[in-house]
Amino acid sequence: MNIKSILQKDNFTRDDIIRLLIADDPVDIELIREKAEQALLYKCGSKVFYRGLVEFSNNCVCDCHYCGIRKSNSAVKRFMLSKEEIISAARWCAEQGYGSVVLQSGERHDAAFVDFVEEVIKEIKSATVSQKLPKGAGVTLSIGEQSPQVYERFFKAGAHRYLLRVESSSPQLFSSIHPPSQSLEKRTGCLSALKRIGFQVGTGVMIGLPGQTAENLADDILFFKKMDVDMIGMGPYIVHRDTPMNVYTDYFNINRDKIYHTSLLMIAVCRLVLKDVNIASTTALQALRDDGREMGLRYGANIIMPQTTPVNVRRDYLLYENKPFLDESSEELRKQLDLRILSLGRETALDDWGDSKHFSTEIKWQNAEIKD
Ligand code: 5AD
Repeated sequence: MNIKSILQKDNFTRDDIIRLLIADDPVDIELIREKAEQALLYKCGSKVFYRGLVEFSNNCVCDCHYCGIRKSNSAVKRFMLSKEEIISAARWCAEQGYGSVVLQSGERHDAAFVDFVEEVIKEIKSATVSQKLPKGAGVTLSIGEQSPQVYERFFKAGAHRYLLRVESSSPQLFSSIHPPSQSLEKRTGCLSALKRIGFQVGTGVMIGLPGQTAENLADDILFFKKMDVDMIGMGPYIVHRDTPMNVYTDYFNINRDKIYHTSLLMIAVCRLVLKDVNIASTTALQALRDDGREMGLRYGANIIMPQTTPVNVRRDYLLYENKPFLDESSEELRKQLDLRILSLGRETALDDWGDSKHFSTEIKWQNAEIKD
């Protein structure tokens, strides 16, 4: 079956998904992109939603083999922003019309950290209430694996979305890039707990991991579907020199273009399979190509997370090499992004949490079920 016939189907088989992910004829790739863009416009509309990204601490108890801020990397200068710094970044986002903020950090489980985050969420919610945002800015967390009790505290404090990437849904690949203390089952359990509590849940994978196949990536998409997630954040895996995976630097350099194109196809195929979820066009895409994030939007993404971490600590939050936007002020970044999005013929949403359509549809459906 050719790509055109596959794209005409309502439901893709695993084999169809693999075929789409390995497409390398430019004509086929453009057909996939166009269809994904249509699906996006039809299911979610043309608006691009901003979430101001605040990377508030690089302290981390994990030792993931790929990550630049892993516990064992002694070259990293560790930092933690103060409550005031985080709140002022969040207030800036709200004033800019960014309806939501994402608080991201390395993983910690100690009581002081959990208390701190809980307080910060509460204060952001009250500090950002305005006529335009009567319930304050939307708060998304991206702070790793926590207990269900802790997730519940964060939800009660006012956070309503949570990002926790599965990194790879293949048990073999997952264990090849993590120390034995981390497991795919535990990660999946966290995603289920977050859903049960009521969070809009986002997950995702890294693309281009050594040993990763198109079959693995197809299974990742089917995993997202099975987990019924609301949001997807994926990006290319990019080697960081101070990690054990630096042995793959040559592998990465040789496969760079392929990794970039596969990342775009992953966005498109996720859009075609999952339809009404939010999909982020991530910064890592732009680390590979200057227009990487715009391309992500053209392949079906609808979320951008502009950097709003204070400039003085950005260099200490390098999960991978060549991370862009280390020096530009949040204001400059915003201006650049607005122009780039406009040039795509898309518009940016202002003062809107930008919840996943998938989540609201699911809630409506659940309520209808209860009424019956
Ligand atoms: N390359 C690309 N992405 C990375 N992440 C961590 N390290 C890297 C890397 N070297 C991603 C992981 C994590 C997210 C916060 O950043 O997917 O979940």
